[in-house]
Amino acid sequence: MSSHNGILKVRVARIETLTPEIKRFTLVDLEGKHLPAFSGGSHVVVVIDDADSTYRNAYSLMNSPYDSSAYQIAVRRVSEGRGGSRFLHSQVKEGDLLQIMQPANLFPLAKHARQHIFIAGGVGITPVYSQLDELHLKQVDFELHLAVRGPEHATLGLELQAKYGKHVHLYVDGQGPRMDIRQVLAQRPLGSHVYVCGPDSMIDDTIDSAHALGWTDSHIHYERFVEQGSLGEPFSVTLARQGVTLEVAPDQSLLEAAEKAGYAVPYLCRGGACGYCETTVLEIEGELDHRDDWLSEEDKLSKRKFMPCVSRANCSRLVVDL
Ligand code: FES
Repeated sequence: MSSHNGILKVRVARIETLTPEIKRFTLVDLEGKHLPAFSGGSHVVVVIDDADSTYRNAYSLMNSPYDSSAYQIAVRRVSEGRGGSRFLHSQVKEGDLLQIMQPANLFPLAKHARQHIFIAGGVGITPVYSQLDELHLKQVDFELHLAVRGPEHATLGLELQAKYGKHVHLYVDGQGPRMDIRQVLAQRPLGSHVYVCGPDSMIDDTIDSAHALGWTDSHIHYERFVEQGSLGEPFSVTLARQGVTLEVAPDQSLLEAAEKAGYAVPYLCRGGACGYCETTVLEIEGELDHRDDWLSEEDKLSKRKFMPCVSRANCSRLVVDL
C-alpha cells in the first residue's frame, strides 16, 4: 500500500454521475492492495492541489466497510464554494492519482442501540450509506428516511431501496407526502438512536423534535456538512508560537492559511465538529465569529477558545496559541 505519514496515494478507478450535482468516485490502491479498514460513518480527507491552492476536503466513505478493495466517495459540486469540489468535478479523470488521509470516524454507530433510525437530506445520505451496510451485514434492524429535491436527485435513494426494500423511506419533493420528522421519531422504544445528516434546518428540526419527545442527547447523533467552508471577510491573525502574522483570505479558513504558510495545525473533520483543532486565544481586540458545533456557549462567550477550521474573526488584533 502506498502510504506515507498517514497519506495514501490512490488511483481514481471510476467516476459516475449520480445526479446533476453529485459524482461518485471509486478510489483504489496504486498496487491493487486493500486499503485500510474503516467502520460505517467514516470519512477521508482528500488533498486537492489546484494551481497555487491546496484544498483538503472531507468526504464520507460510502462503500461497504466489509470491502476495503476500494473506497467510494460522493462529491457534490458546490459552485459557490472554495473550489475543491469544482476541481474534483471538472479536472479529475478516471486513471488520475489523488492523495487522501487515513479514514477517521466522527459519526459512528451506537453499538448498543435497540433501534437505529436514520434521517438524511440530499448528499447527507453519504455518511449513512456505509452505516446501513454495516447494520445489514450484522443483521441489525434499521430504518432510513431520506428526502431529496426531485426525481433527478433520487439515484442513491433508489439504490438503497433496491438493496434494503421496506427499510428505506424515500421522500421526493413534489411527489407524495413530505417527511414529518416528529412523526418519524414518535413512539419509538426506549434505547432507540437517531442519526441525522443533511441541511441545518433538518438537523435542527430532528434535534428539537427528539427533545420534545423526551429523547436524551446521547441518543441523538448528527453530522453537519460545511459546504461553503469558512467564507467571509479577511482577517489577520498572529500565531504566537511561530512569531508570524498571517492574512486569512475571504475564501480561506485560518487552518488553511496556516497550512499554506507551512505550519501544521492538528485537525480531523475540518468542519467544526471534532474538537481536534481547538486553539487558545491569547489576545483579542474585536469579536470572534464562532461557526463550530464543538465549543459550548460559555466557551464561545469567554473569547478564550477558537476553532481555526471554520471560525473567523472581526477584529483589529487576534493572537492565538499556535
Ligand atoms: S478539525 Fe474538527 S473541529 Fe476543527
